[in-house]
Amino acid sequence: MPAGSTNASATWSGGFGADAVSTDFSLAPYPGLRPFRAEEADIYFGRETQTDALLDRLARTRFLAVVGPSGCGKSSLVRAGMIASLQTGFMAAAGADWRIADLRPGDRPMARLARALRQFIPSATAELAATEALPLIEATLRRGPLGLVEWLRDVGLPPATNLLLLVDQFEEIFRYREKGDRDEADAFVALLLASAAQRDLPIYIVITMRSDFLGDCALFSGLPEAINDSQYLTPRLTREQCRLAITGPAKVFGGTVEPALVNRLLNDFGPDPDQLPLLQHALMRMWDRAGRRPHPAAPGDSAAIGLADYENTGGLTRAMSDHADEVLAELAPPQRAIAEVMFRRLTERGVGRRDTRAPARLSDVAAVAGVAVDSVYPVVEAFRRPDRSFVTPPVGIALGPDTLLDIGHESLIRQWRSLGEWVDRETRSAALYQRLALTARLWVANDAALWRNPDLERALKWQQEERPSAAWAARYGSVGDFEQAIAFLQRSEASWRDEQQGTLEATRRQREQEIALQTQAAAQQKLRAENEALRSRKRFLSALAVLLPLAIGAAAWAAWQMSVAVEQARIAAAATQRAEHEANRVRTLLDRLTNSEAIKRAFLAEDAEAISRYAAATPSGDGIGFGARGATLDWKTGAGKNLYQYELYPLPTALRGPLRSATRMSYFMNHPSFDQKVINAGPGNGFTGIYTGWGCLSKVYVLVEYADADRLPEVYWYDMCAKVAER
Ligand SMILES: Nc1ncnc2c1ncn2[C@@H]1O[C@H](COP(=O)(O)OP(=O)(O)OP(=O)(O)O)[C@@H](O)[C@H]1O
Ligand SMILES: [Mg+2]
Repeated sequence: MPAGSTNASATWSGGFGADAVSTDFSLAPYPGLRPFRAEEADIYFGRETQTDALLDRLARTRFLAVVGPSGCGKSSLVRAGMIASLQTGFMAAAGADWRIADLRPGDRPMARLARALRQFIPSATAELAATEALPLIEATLRRGPLGLVEWLRDVGLPPATNLLLLVDQFEEIFRYREKGDRDEADAFVALLLASAAQRDLPIYIVITMRSDFLGDCALFSGLPEAINDSQYLTPRLTREQCRLAITGPAKVFGGTVEPALVNRLLNDFGPDPDQLPLLQHALMRMWDRAGRRPHPAAPGDSAAIGLADYENTGGLTRAMSDHADEVLAELAPPQRAIAEVMFRRLTERGVGRRDTRAPARLSDVAAVAGVAVDSVYPVVEAFRRPDRSFVTPPVGIALGPDTLLDIGHESLIRQWRSLGEWVDRETRSAALYQRLALTARLWVANDAALWRNPDLERALKWQQEERPSAAWAARYGSVGDFEQAIAFLQRSEASWRDEQQGTLEATRRQREQEIALQTQAAAQQKLRAENEALRSRKRFLSALAVLLPLAIGAAAWAAWQMSVAVEQARIAAAATQRAEHEANRVRTLLDRLTNSEAIKRAFLAEDAEAISRYAAATPSGDGIGFGARGATLDWKTGAGKNLYQYELYPLPTALRGPLRSATRMSYFMNHPSFDQKVINAGPGNGFTGIYTGWGCLSKVYVLVEYADADRLPEVYWYDMCAKVAER
């Protein structure tokens, strides 16, 4: 430790307010983030004239409101400045015998006032004080505005003793009035004002309050008037006062601050209200760092903090944020998660991004983090160490489920970058939840619809990332609201899924139909073109069939007419025979073409009865050689059946054998459930026909057309299910 510092152990006297732990003397020159205590007057510098002004005003009015921006030093001024001076007898008219009751209104002002007063119960009734006193004191205080006066009269203050009631962080009463018990808040303020106004007992009231809450004072009857009479607006420290505040405490502890560092600090000390806490924290860090260096070489050498310490701790702007990050990094990952929950819970974003403290019970933090209270203790301990003071209560006050936790100083919310990000996250999370809860309420009343994307998507992402619980949501509404909101979200998700599934199915069905229609249209167009070609060929041959007999007759007649030679007659006869032969051939060809056309037309018209008739005239496809295979697709039909892709094809042996001169094959699916009944296949893909459907079809007819003009198209059939099963 630096020279001059002490190892003396602190004596803690619990029971005042959260900050009211007292030591017999200062343990270190710089308190860091926390305010100075009354016992630390020896290290409190720069406010001497202001302390005198406060005493004057208090003596006159017995009610004093010390106001100023956040972190300007109000609490310190009252404790280490004013109270310390009172106790030394600087308010001559009142003497030096003072009893101090120090409290913060927090989440139950009357109970906290009762606790702060308990110390005044005479020791004879100490046993009672330990057990039953608090409810009794509270009950007396609640009797009316003069409850405190009555209680003091009952208890009996020693002669010539004054009571100073310090209500630090008075602005907490506004939060309590809004979110807690409005009547109790009103009664509390009325009690303060009446106690200060009466003159039977020497009761003095001091409140400290952030100046941005001044306007809210009009909520309480009589308070604006009292504040108008006795307000003290805390001034900023001048450059000289600041210099004293930097160098004075080090001197008390036998140390020094290098002049270069003093100048640097004074130059870096800007106008924004967080500067004083930042300065204090940086000084505390540097002093702590100096204390860990080897002891000064020679006795009498003093510990010194210098520019190097300043650079090393991150300077005014970064020291606090870096330090808090260091503490966070020391924790194990699950504890880090608890720390995030804790700081998010202890901060509240007000209008216009005005982030403020929101004290909460330790058990609430545990519930939101979803852990046992025991798991929160080490996290609080890490952040409340005296050389950190990032959370209160300070070390020395035992932690329990009911302990009210608070941020050490509000500047931490603005300066610690990680906390800033957490608060942003909490704000976004709360905003989404509140919108969800509101819509759920409207939905129940039939005034809103279920959520769809993109709202639904955002809410589900929020649920996954934030894992909101009823304990978390309690801060923003009732448990019923939370359950309703989550039920609404689940219903929205289920309904959206159903809707999506339906759309997907419809698209799938439409696509299947489109494919089937396209294939069918293409096949029909091709068949029509072929049919047309067939018909014109048939017309030509029909004409030939008519003309040929005429030509033959003409030839015979000519031969007879001209009485040609026998040889010529023979030639004519031979010609006639040839012509007849040709006519027969043409007729046969015509028949074939006609048959061929009929068979093809049967396929084109999907005439199952005609097709099966033609098939009966040809051997089964089994003998020729056809195969089939099926593969499952990822799709399902609207009825939930699996879709398959089937391939129908001739076996290579058949292609080399009986089907050698095949030019085309058309597969006819004899199954009522299949829209696209005919599939055409050419040599390009080995005559393989492909279709998509569900269930194998029992019978497939195959129309095989040949290049060979004498060979009629043939219709084979085979059992496709059997073929698929064979594979
Ligand atoms: N005279 C001083 N010299 C050096 N540091 C000071 C002085 N007065 C206050 N501080 C420091 O400034 C910071 C804020 O002090 P304090 O809590 O007293 O201010 P406050 O105005 O009461 O803040 P809040 O608005 O949060 O109540 C603390 O870190 C404290 O140690
Ligand atoms: Mg304060």
